[in-house]
Amino acid sequence: MNLILLGAPGAGKGTQGALIAARDGSARISTGDLLRDAVRRGTPLGQRAKGYMDAGELVPDAVILDLVREVLVSDMDKSSGFLLDGFPRTIPQAEALDRLLADLGRPLDAVVVIDVPDEILVQRLSGRRTCAACGAVYNIYFEPPQVAGLCDRCGGALTERADDTAETVRHRLEVYKRQTAPLIAYYEASRTPVQHVDGDRPTAEVAAAIARVLDS
Ligand code: AP5
Ligand code: MG
Repeated sequence: MNLILLGAPGAGKGTQGALIAARDGSARISTGDLLRDAVRRGTPLGQRAKGYMDAGELVPDAVILDLVREVLVSDMDKSSGFLLDGFPRTIPQAEALDRLLADLGRPLDAVVVIDVPDEILVQRLSGRRTCAACGAVYNIYFEPPQVAGLCDRCGGALTERADDTAETVRHRLEVYKRQTAPLIAYYEASRTPVQHVDGDRPTAEVAAAIARVLDS
């Protein structure tokens, strides 16, 4: 299946995306993860993106579109589906994606919107910890590791994301409402089915609800 996961910062796109990709064998493309990797490696893309990311602003569309085009056109096994997490995030990105997928002959099957109230999002982001070594995601309030500060899977050190400070989180939520939430209406007006899932419940229940809507 070719899917888009939509939802505000902290809605669980990364968490659910990893579960869906493991279940379906689809390739998960997270623009946020690709950008953070570029920042870590200090590439020209990372140097360009860092200031926007730290401020909770969106990276310019042209930069993101070059990145996604490269992954979708060259790097991906065409026999598996793909799952887009954190992209598209603006109407121009969605329009460019439509053109790209039409050129590639790879239509979208569904858009899954994960709905979570703002106050829960703020708490989730303030408690998020990510393994610096393997990328596994934890939450000190909701999904803590067995040993504080260490990854259950690989023992790596858990770190906080630079953009998870209270002020930047508030700004990211505003940016989401202004620039990304309009994509829901955009896709509702298209042929691609849009499925809303209540994301304010335990991870396994959200995963089961997503599996149900995708199977139906
Ligand atoms: P990105 O990395 O995409 O960040 P985001 O959209 O702000 O979303 P998050 O990754 O913060 O949240 P998530 O929904 O993945 O939640 P998660 O599963 O981690 O983008 C970062 C930046 O990069 C942007 O601000 C922008 O600058 C740039 N960027 C990226 N893509 C771009 C684009 N297309 N265009 C322009 N700029 C772009 O979960 C959050 C926490 O909650 C975790 O701790 C998790 O353990 C916990 N949790 C998850 N599910 C549950 C649950 N059901 N119950 C309890 N806790 C849960
Ligand atoms: Mg994420």
